[in-house]
Amino acid sequence: MVARTVLVTGSSRGLGLEMVRQLAQHITPPDVIIATCRNPEAAQELQQLSKSHREINLLKLDVVDEGSYTALVKWVREIVGNHGLNLLINNAGIAPKSTRITQVKWQQMVDTFLVNSVAPVMLSKALLPILKIAATQAEGSGLSVKRAAIINISSVLGSIEKNDKGGIYPYRASKAALNAITKSLSTDLRNSNILVSSICPGWAQTDMGGKNASLTPEHI
Ligand SMILES: NC(=O)c1ccc[n+]([C@@H]2O[C@H](COP(=O)([O-])OP(=O)(O)OC[C@H]3O[C@@H](n4cnc5c(N)ncnc54)[C@H](OP(=O)(O)O)[C@@H]3O)[C@@H](O)[C@H]2O)c1
Repeated sequence: MVARTVLVTGSSRGLGLEMVRQLAQHITPPDVIIATCRNPEAAQELQQLSKSHREINLLKLDVVDEGSYTALVKWVREIVGNHGLNLLINNAGIAPKSTRITQVKWQQMVDTFLVNSVAPVMLSKALLPILKIAATQAEGSGLSVKRAAIINISSVLGSIEKNDKGGIYPYRASKAALNAITKSLSTDLRNSNILVSSICPGWAQTDMGGKNASLTPEHI
């Protein structure tokens, strides 16, 4: 691949941390990796990683804190400069434990929608001008992360077709909404040469995926 400038949300642990690690250790790493997390002081592994990889810039971001987006966009502009942002990875996510209809709570639905669905669309909107700068820089034609892209980390649990077990209301609904958002974004941004896609990483051993998951984050 590799994009020259990348921003990853939810980089403190799990798949976000692993994506930052693998990008930094790539044979041709990006020039700039903006690793955002809501509590950089507590993100010890990410801190250590950033000490040995100068391209990693650690920025504080709680994705549901819309009030902080203006400052974030300013920082990102300063860091990426005239090159713009090639790749935004909307990775931050939550998955409440509730399963069945008798257990689901109002606030779980609202909180999960805010993190998993609302934040990716609003952050994409906020960073769009910087993605558009990168989209106009690349030579040639076609959509690619080398030009400009938004990748939303979704889940097979958001699939309506594959839902044969029910339950998991907040997470399933929020990822289904994320898939709908991805489809609209991909249509809206096509003429701006910005690739938009969502992926399911697979079932991975993270705090969210649990110890029984079939894959380790390194193998995603
Ligand atoms: N693991 C799996 O099997 C699996 C499967 C399919 C899809 N996914 C998706 O992959 C993504 C990463 O999951 P994971 O397994 O790495 O989960 P994880 O280990 O629980 O990590 C979640 C990450 O999201 C961050 N986060 C949560 N709320 C946030 C907020 N309001 N603002 C900023 N960051 C926030 C967390 O930060 P803190 O450290 O501050 O809490 C943490 O860095 C999620 O979107 C998830 O839905 C995972």
